[in-house]
Amino acid sequence: MFAGWCPHPGQQAFLNATAPVRVLACGRRWGKTEVIAAEVARTLLTAAERCVLLVAPSNEQALLGFERTVEFLRRAGARPIVRRTPAPVLIVGNSRLWARSAIRGGVYLRGRKAHLIVVDEAAYVPEAVVNEVLMPMLADTGGKIALVSTPRGKNYFYRLYQQGQEDGVRIWSMRSPSWHNPLLSPTMLLMQSSLMSARQFQVEYGAMFLDAAEQVFRTEWVDRALLLNLPDEGLVVAGVDWARYRDYTALAVVRGSRAAAKLIALRRWQGLSWADQVQAVAEHLKMHQPVRVVCDRTGVGDPLLEALQAAGVPHAEGVVFTARVKQNLIENLALMLEQGRLQLLPDPHLLNELYHFEFAPASRGTQLHSGSVHDDLVIALALAVWALPNAEASAILTSGTKRT
Ligand SMILES: Nc1ncnc2c1ncn2[C@@H]1O[C@H](COP(=O)(O)OP(=O)(O)OP(=O)(O)O)[C@@H](O)[C@H]1O
Ligand SMILES: [Mg+2]
Repeated sequence: MFAGWCPHPGQQAFLNATAPVRVLACGRRWGKTEVIAAEVARTLLTAAERCVLLVAPSNEQALLGFERTVEFLRRAGARPIVRRTPAPVLIVGNSRLWARSAIRGGVYLRGRKAHLIVVDEAAYVPEAVVNEVLMPMLADTGGKIALVSTPRGKNYFYRLYQQGQEDGVRIWSMRSPSWHNPLLSPTMLLMQSSLMSARQFQVEYGAMFLDAAEQVFRTEWVDRALLLNLPDEGLVVAGVDWARYRDYTALAVVRGSRAAAKLIALRRWQGLSWADQVQAVAEHLKMHQPVRVVCDRTGVGDPLLEALQAAGVPHAEGVVFTARVKQNLIENLALMLEQGRLQLLPDPHLLNELYHFEFAPASRGTQLHSGSVHDDLVIALALAVWALPNAEASAILTSGTKRT
């Protein structure tokens, strides 16, 4: 198909499928982005004029598929005109490819027509973006859509997969674990399996659709939190989880009260010195002007808190994580999600951390853990939500301008 490139059998099955909707669930490192790029490139190279849209949960992921497509086109001898800013687009012959993220409800996607839409890591893209934004783009053109992803519980991606298993004509679907990629090293798989819990490995590499009783944040609560449209009002507060050894420094900024709140910003940094972590967090916080910032000071003590205060964040305060404190924080976050009081952003790292956050086995009491998957963003979010005022306090605090 492309000089020097040979799809593995699973990739070939996907490329051969002709159904208008294709659902491909596979493990990490299976070659998902690669086969998406191959599919996009071959569509762009057909004689007819084609508009293709490549969607991913984040800009970085959309750009990965875009760059891989450029490589395939060049390999086929084509000379695409490529533009990467303000957003990736390429033209080859009469055909065109846009690569976009699904952030902000897909506002950057609306109003286009497409002959082919491919969604990388589709289980991490909100269902509403697929149904209300992407599907209508295919109506005029009779176009096709391909959803490719590692599973994230029994969400809409799973339901489409199931429909494909029953139907097979309108929807083609296939599930394939990472080890079906013959290029993947067994040593790497063994190492990964030793780094994560059995359930995490079954999902991330075995491509299984699992929702478990041990999950703290149920998939349907999280998905519903992505669909909420709560008002943009109330106080702004933030939570910070400092990086220790191999993990990330994470920051979550939330607006509202415990009755109704909205995640408005989420950031994480890795590999920074203590001083740079403080600087990065302080700069980000200045953009949002939170009235309260709660930081995890377990193991890092007061110096970081003092440095943050000195860097211009006067409202920073610290909490020490005992097992009880952590449990209260996490249960408060879970309750807000269960009761539909918190609107989330479709950040793929946050969704992955929430999905894998588990109650420890009964033998270890009610402790919470997240196996080897990072939990920095969940902790930062739990701290931010903890910092929110309750509804009554919020009403008093935000009506300050009217008081004398
Ligand atoms: N058919 C193929 N021939 C040669 N190399 C391949 C093929 N398929 C995938 N690869 C290579 O395998 C690696 C993993 O592929 P890719 O990034 O597409 O996997 P993925 O499933 O998207 O991974 P992730 O879960 O990390 O997003 C890449 O280095 C890619 O170039
Ligand atoms: Mg990929």
